[in-house]
Amino acid sequence: MILKIKASEQMMSSIIEIKQLTYRYDKDTVLENINLSIAEGSFLAIVGPNGSGKSTLLKLILGLLKLQKGEIHLFGQDINKFKDWQRIGYVSQKANSFNTDFPATVFEVAASGLTKRIGMFRRIKKEHEDKVLAALEAVGMKQYQSRNIGELSGGQQQRVFIARALVSEPQLLILDEPTVGVDAENVNAFYQMLDELNKNKGITLMLVTHDIGSISEKVSHVACLNKRLHFHGDSKEFENLRMEDMSKAYGYDMQLLTHHHEYGGR
Ligand SMILES: Nc1ncnc2c1ncn2[C@@H]1O[C@H](COP(=O)(O)OP(=O)(O)O)[C@@H](O)[C@H]1O
Ligand SMILES: [Mg+2]
Repeated sequence: MILKIKASEQMMSSIIEIKQLTYRYDKDTVLENINLSIAEGSFLAIVGPNGSGKSTLLKLILGLLKLQKGEIHLFGQDINKFKDWQRIGYVSQKANSFNTDFPATVFEVAASGLTKRIGMFRRIKKEHEDKVLAALEAVGMKQYQSRNIGELSGGQQQRVFIARALVSEPQLLILDEPTVGVDAENVNAFYQMLDELNKNKGITLMLVTHDIGSISEKVSHVACLNKRLHFHGDSKEFENLRMEDMSKAYGYDMQLLTHHHEYGGR
């Protein structure tokens, strides 16, 4: 009996539990036998080359793609029964290519994260306004609330999209390649902001990137995906991987990858 209780407690501390997940588009298998468990409070980076299945994995977790084979549990519940989607915030890869000529202020863009709750054309109540301002403050964008979104830098826009995902106060925030539009000199500050969301607000973070440069300094855990999960561990374990292990972990040539980095390729 005691053993059973312990086991269920352990389940509870995993915010995401993935078992034997395989997924294919038509005849191409893009994810194969993925087993992954993400602890509450962690900050996980999923790294892997282009086309390695990173976005597909996120879309499966978000219920945007239908499970074919395997299991996903969210907050201890089978994804097929899960309904509490406001507990999960998501900023898609497409957020970077948002049409910024669109005439909307920073406040309006962040507030659009509440439309599910308040309806698109309803007036925003004070309580909702406070939530929007708190979200903008959390990403360091409150002072820009009246600016047009199109007047901001890529990094600032990305912060606003994160604020939009934060207004529903999620416990888990999922970001697909969030640093792609961020200028190199602002990347550290951007990760600093994510770190504060993780540490001060207790939000579990999961982000996808193909940029492994110094990722282990920024996050608590790293998972290397290339169709299969080649490595999953904490940042220390990731740093301790030797070059050969790294290549194995990645499923591709690390030498090529680091070379690519030195010359500032993306
Ligand atoms: N809707 C789709 N239909 C068919 N193939 C797809 C679709 N989306 C992605 N793919 C393919 O699946 C593989 C993994 O894609 P994706 O998950 O987007 O990788 P990543 O995010 O790591 O770049 C790629 O080969 C991609 O071309
Ligand atoms: Mg992708």
